[in-house]
Amino acid sequence: MARILLYTGKGGVGKTSVAAATALLCAERGYRTIVVSTDMAHSLGDAFDAEIGSEPTKLADNLWGHEPEVFSNIEKYWGTIQAYVADLFSWRALDEVMAEEMTILPGMDELGSLLWIADHHDQGIYDVIIVDAAPTGETLRLLALPEAARWWVERIGPLGKRMSRLGRPMLERLIGVPVPDERVFDATERLLARLRHVHDLLADPKLSSVRLVLNLERVAINEAQRSFTYFHLYGYPTDLVVCNRVLPRDTGDYFQGWRDAQQAYLPVVEEAFAPVPLRPVPHLESEVVGRERLRELGRLLFGQGDPIEFFYRGRPYQVNRDGDGFLLSLELPFTTRDEVELSRHGDELVLQVGGWRRTLLLPRALVGATTQGARMDNGSLQVRFAPAERSR
Ligand SMILES: Nc1ncnc2c1ncn2[C@@H]1O[C@H](COP(=O)(O)OP(=O)(O)OP(=O)(O)O)[C@@H](O)[C@H]1O
Ligand SMILES: [Mg+2]
Repeated sequence: MARILLYTGKGGVGKTSVAAATALLCAERGYRTIVVSTDMAHSLGDAFDAEIGSEPTKLADNLWGHEPEVFSNIEKYWGTIQAYVADLFSWRALDEVMAEEMTILPGMDELGSLLWIADHHDQGIYDVIIVDAAPTGETLRLLALPEAARWWVERIGPLGKRMSRLGRPMLERLIGVPVPDERVFDATERLLARLRHVHDLLADPKLSSVRLVLNLERVAINEAQRSFTYFHLYGYPTDLVVCNRVLPRDTGDYFQGWRDAQQAYLPVVEEAFAPVPLRPVPHLESEVVGRERLRELGRLLFGQGDPIEFFYRGRPYQVNRDGDGFLLSLELPFTTRDEVELSRHGDELVLQVGGWRRTLLLPRALVGATTQGARMDNGSLQVRFAPAERSR
């Protein structure tokens, strides 16, 4: 059981610095800690002012850094699938190099690095896994993948398998392209199961927390709010908002305008993310490079406190009795009822907010119950279900 902390936020807000500072503090407090970068533009090494390899690299007592190589971890799953796709392309008379190129799907590299989280967890040698993630948009896209994966595994996977077992030669003649054999489906399933595992770890409120890093500027705040909503939507628990680079009082007249703007944003941001707490961190005198600076940043962030504490424990969604029916509540901050689309397919509730869709597998009690309507109440989506017996 390792504690997992994933730091994300808009580009350049200080994710890497904060992740590295947290990692150093954890290690110095005696936790066996690994900090892994899932941002392909690795910069952990710069923060620590040290070489960090594509295998876990020891940086200090109790501290390892890891900047995975593109494809280093996904090859074993993706290889078989890739071979099939290459086959498909070369069969259509594309030359082989070209076919290889075309099978490297965008996002696959980051996906591979995400799988490392599960590997480090399963190895069982670390107390804390800290993730220096890519900017929010990319990270969200990745974290939404396991959801789609479940759908594949449960529906398309078995179907495809049966199809390829029963009618491959016939199908190939019929549709005129190579149909993947069972190994391809197996590899796909293994990959998706692994993704599912990553999702389950990151969505486990007893293990993981997403921590949002922002600066007190309109764009960074907006992006943090949007991603906050989507993390809720996908059930990834958020326990802290780190407000980085707050200008201290003694920065002179030149920065007065910036300081005033930041001070005006601070209470607004605090209220917006409540009850998830906000931690302001000052703008340091120089860039955060090397252990001294990281130690300073860590101290300013957590003081004497425990960096792996759960600063907030929210539940992704809960179901309560409501009269003779049930009420499912899901926190969806910064969202209005109009922005939420709901549909029901048997035991699944499909939620769409903006471009993001989540399929919630309903708890047993609600499977036989009909949905009666939904409303937003104070940042929380409330879906009402009729009593199960009557709806049958
Ligand atoms: N509190 C701070 N005080 C002073 N400088 C800081 C602070 N936090 C971060 N920096 C500096 O700001 C720059 C960007 O920080 P960092 O690389 O941590 O951001 P990032 O969010 O990881 O960026 P990217 O999106 O590119 O990965 C770095 O030069 C870092 O040293
Ligand atoms: Mg970074």
